[in-house]
Amino acid sequence: MSCATCHTADLKKSGKTLVGKGIDPLAPSANKNRLVSVKETEKWLSRNFKQVYGREGTPREKGDVLKFISAQ
Ligand code: HEC
Repeated sequence: MSCATCHTADLKKSGKTLVGKGIDPLAPSANKNRLVSVKETEKWLSRNFKQVYGREGTPREKGDVLKFISAQ
């Protein structure tokens, strides 16, 4: 499993959870509600990192990921 499993390789597109529920695009350019709430972002990033990598990411890893998403 990778981040793209649910969010797709193109973050401007909608994704899908494992049970088929829709996920709005992660890219801030396509969805202005992204990366605006510290609480939401921390909650989901921790949960998603654990699911994909089996551990919570370090601040540097999470920062790299957020920088990447912000640029999309
Ligand atoms: C099993 C499916 C799944 C996987 C795998 C997954 N995510 Fe998510 N992600 C979700 C769901 C569901 C949400 C919350 C619903 C929403 O925000 O639309 C979410 C939300 C997020 C958010 C919150 C965005 C915000 O608005 O603050 C970020 C950031 C994120 N994911 C990043 C990642 C990264 C990075 C990975 C890979 C390490 C990943 N996700 C893997 C399903 C997944």
